[in-house]
Amino acid sequence: MTVDSVNSEARQNTEEPQDPPVAGGAVPLLGHSLKLARDPLAFMCRLRDHGDVVRLRLGPKTVYAVTTPALTGAVALSPDYIISGPLWETLEGLLGKEGVATANGPLHRRQRRTVQPAFRRDAIPAYGPVMEEEAHALTERWSSGRPVDCTLEAFRIAVRVSARCLLRGPYMDERAERLGSALSTVFRGMYRRMVLPLGPLYRLPFPANREFNRALADLHRLVDEIIAGRRASGRNPDDLLTALLTAEDDNGEPIGEQEIHDQVVAILTAGGETVATTIMWLLQTLANHPEHADRIRAEVESVTGGKPVAFDDVRRLTHTNNVIVETMRLRPSVWVLTRRAVTDTELGGRRIPAGADIIYSPYAVQRDPRSYPDHLEFDPDRWLPHRAEDVPKHAMSPFGVGNRKCPADHFSMALLSLFTAAVATRFRLEQVAGSDDSPRVGITLRPRGLLVRPVPR
Ligand code: HEM
Repeated sequence: MTVDSVNSEARQNTEEPQDPPVAGGAVPLLGHSLKLARDPLAFMCRLRDHGDVVRLRLGPKTVYAVTTPALTGAVALSPDYIISGPLWETLEGLLGKEGVATANGPLHRRQRRTVQPAFRRDAIPAYGPVMEEEAHALTERWSSGRPVDCTLEAFRIAVRVSARCLLRGPYMDERAERLGSALSTVFRGMYRRMVLPLGPLYRLPFPANREFNRALADLHRLVDEIIAGRRASGRNPDDLLTALLTAEDDNGEPIGEQEIHDQVVAILTAGGETVATTIMWLLQTLANHPEHADRIRAEVESVTGGKPVAFDDVRRLTHTNNVIVETMRLRPSVWVLTRRAVTDTELGGRRIPAGADIIYSPYAVQRDPRSYPDHLEFDPDRWLPHRAEDVPKHAMSPFGVGNRKCPADHFSMALLSLFTAAVATRFRLEQVAGSDDSPRVGITLRPRGLLVRPVPR
């Protein structure tokens, strides 16, 4: 279904678009804020019971929530909605205004043209050796069988792989660790600042504020060091960093230093956090569904003949891939997205005024019983081709759709498959005492504190 068809269907139903209903449960002054803050995942899932488009009252502000797959697709595909609103303003304020993840219009189009070649499908095999090396190095480290802090390990591999593949250079090895820990603290603090915009209080010298400021400063310093190091090396390898350093604006002039800096920050933050949190959920899946871990192991062995899994094997690992997709369905790293309407428009016959903030949740859409039979059941076989064709369009988009779709979807899937295959063939995982795999909601969704013991097979 296209944007036009969604809107024209709406027009047939009613001449004048109507205001969307206000979701039930609002209280005076605070509206839905407390409900959203208390249990954001359940709250977003319940909105579908109130309508396809509903209004939320968050204190004095009205926000428009979109709850169906077709309408979330319509929002993502329409030029009437741009990247703006509280989520993006917080990101911009702290991470920079000139990166691809927050830019709009011609600047965004030019920046996508610069970053896209590094992520093209035919560019991915060149990253295979680094992905293999990192996945096997991790399984070597785990062979002692000591419990593993999944948050640390997931950030380590996510940042090391992105940095080594895209910002190539030996100097990355030692910095990847610092980047991982800075990112983790920065994302936690950014979410707090977004949901509790207490302005000046974040400038007071509380330990949490000091830790956040240190991590943010370290992130920006690291990026400066990476750029300076590359320039000092006199090398121009064929990678994303070279593409950024040699990029030109629409007048053919070199882009400014601030844009180069913000672009590297955008790539590292967008890539580090999402891959790390998805890896955490995959480790939870392997621990909680040993029957699927065993099937992955059998599949990998039948493909590799018992050799360590390699990049070239990945496209034949069907069940491994289905386990990853099903994990992303139930635990999407990017659980919520927002846009802002730039003009008066309509969605599903409901009036959306210019300037309205729109919110939608891949988490809620991917758990909708109208799209998925046994919607809460972990069932990787629902992604077998004959069953997957029943899934409605836009009901499963963990990488987004439209012009803001993640450029790194193939890159990420290759890494996730290699990682999952390497871990499941060598270990059975079990959660240990003190592990907490309940979801922690932040800018991304991750387990609160997953600890697993890798038991060698
Ligand atoms: C955008 C998810 C990995 C870089 C996005 C969006 C989603 C997403 C949902 C679209 C946001 C929107 O519609 O507003 C994911 C997931 C990943 C992943 C689930 C891994 C499991 C990566 C990696 C990188 C990356 C590895 C880079 C190294 C970006 C960038 C954007 C983006 C730069 C902004 C694109 C734009 O606005 O044009 N990602 N991502 N992502 N992602 Fe990813």
